Amino acid sequence: MAANDAATLTIRDNRTGSEYDVPITDGTIKAADLGKIRTAEDEPGLAVYDPGFVNTASCRSSVTYIDGEQGILEYRGYPIEQLAEKSSFLEVAYLLIKGQLPTKAEYDAWVHEITYHTFVHENVKGFMHGFRYDAHPMGMLMASVGALSTFYPDARNINDADNRHMQIVRMIAKMPTLGAWSFRHAQGKPFVYPDNDLGYTANFLSMLFKMSEQKFEADERLVRALDVLFILHADHEQNCSTNAVRSVGSSQVDPYSAVAAGVAALYGPLHGGANEAVLRMLKRIGKKENIPDFMQGVKDGNERLMGFGHRVYKNYDPRAKIIKKACDDVFEVTGVNPLLEIAQELEKIALEDEYFVKRKLYPNVDFYSGLIYEAFQFPPEMFTVLFAIGRTPGWLAQWLELVQDKEQKIARPKQIYTGDRTLDFVPASERWG
Ligand SMILES: CC(C)(COP(=O)(O)OP(=O)(O)OC[C@H]1O[C@@H](n2cnc3c(N)ncnc32)[C@H](O)[C@@H]1OP(=O)(O)O)[C@@H](O)C(=O)NCCC(=O)NCCS
Repeated sequence: MAANDAATLTIRDNRTGSEYDVPITDGTIKAADLGKIRTAEDEPGLAVYDPGFVNTASCRSSVTYIDGEQGILEYRGYPIEQLAEKSSFLEVAYLLIKGQLPTKAEYDAWVHEITYHTFVHENVKGFMHGFRYDAHPMGMLMASVGALSTFYPDARNINDADNRHMQIVRMIAKMPTLGAWSFRHAQGKPFVYPDNDLGYTANFLSMLFKMSEQKFEADERLVRALDVLFILHADHEQNCSTNAVRSVGSSQVDPYSAVAAGVAALYGPLHGGANEAVLRMLKRIGKKENIPDFMQGVKDGNERLMGFGHRVYKNYDPRAKIIKKACDDVFEVTGVNPLLEIAQELEKIALEDEYFVKRKLYPNVDFYSGLIYEAFQFPPEMFTVLFAIGRTPGWLAQWLELVQDKEQKIARPKQIYTGDRTLDFVPASERWG
């Protein structure tokens, strides 16, 4: 018998004694096939209870491949290590969106288009000024990217390929402008317009830090390090924010609204906030002599070693290795962050300590990224904004895949109802006497 003929699952329902053969395809069974298993014609079919979708494939995707056991991350089949070393963020964005690497002409046209869409409507500036003086930049980014849907109402025409391309270009181009302005607002500094002579990441740094100088040109090593960080964050398959983009996008809303949902998901501390927690932890440890006590507390279960462990990676997070290298380049320019020494010592101990080895706890992407961001003088609230800018091409690649996938439907999970039934309503006047 060929292996594929056996690719079925036989289920015996002990409630009825019936047996069902369910096909197994790509290591999955269809939830709809389980739905055919029922005790009576008028009873609901069998469903899967899976809070957080930890064992549910919600789509077919060719964007990103992860093997957590081996520590492998690939975008469109290309290993993250090679992309981080040899590519640029805009080339990676092209790869994610279009599915293949650009020719020279395609790349030049892509960079040109993105560069010339970095400006936003002046009214965007107006309403960004309306936020409170201490508004969190992620809240501002979320609101302003969602607001772009009102500036480009044609974006709702999601079935037109040229239209989709236009919105994708706009969003990748404008996210740094919105992110930088959110930062400047909190600082009470004037907004800086994009400089189209600069590359994507250099222009972002200019919009963040330019003051009275004619031209702001950041150190090339810093520009490259931030570009690499954007590459590392560009996609990570079906995580919380991507799932949010897909779920909201499944209603066929415009892509600005779908991406605003992704930004909202990333705003949450369980998703985008871990690098800030790493920094707080390192500052609390303060000096190397305090490490043994701290580690004992972790092993006693009093707290966690932040930046260690990952739901998917049970090996060294491939992105953490690259970030560690980027640290050296950044600190060459900015001077070494004294917290680096503590981080390195923690890592050294953890990689040899049985507690961490046994549980397969390795540094994740957040362990060193906060240190780099701090060296750039970003306040912690900005860390997630940087993540969102890097993740935008990934969100859009996944959204594009969603809207062209004939198998996709509006997201609508089931529930197990646990409330009351058929109560009799007594009007307030009678209940309250
Ligand atoms: C990322 C994380 C939530 C993944 O969690 P998970 O896959 O659900 O793993 P679990 O919480 O089931 O942990 C498995 C075991 O490792 C331990 N563990 C996990 N992460 C740990 C950490 N960072 N420090 C110490 N112990 C840790 C747990 O206590 C548990 O031990 P036990 O089996 O003795 O109870 C978790 O590793 C964590 O909290 N890390 C710190 C926060 C962080 O860096 N988040 C960023 C992720 S990109």
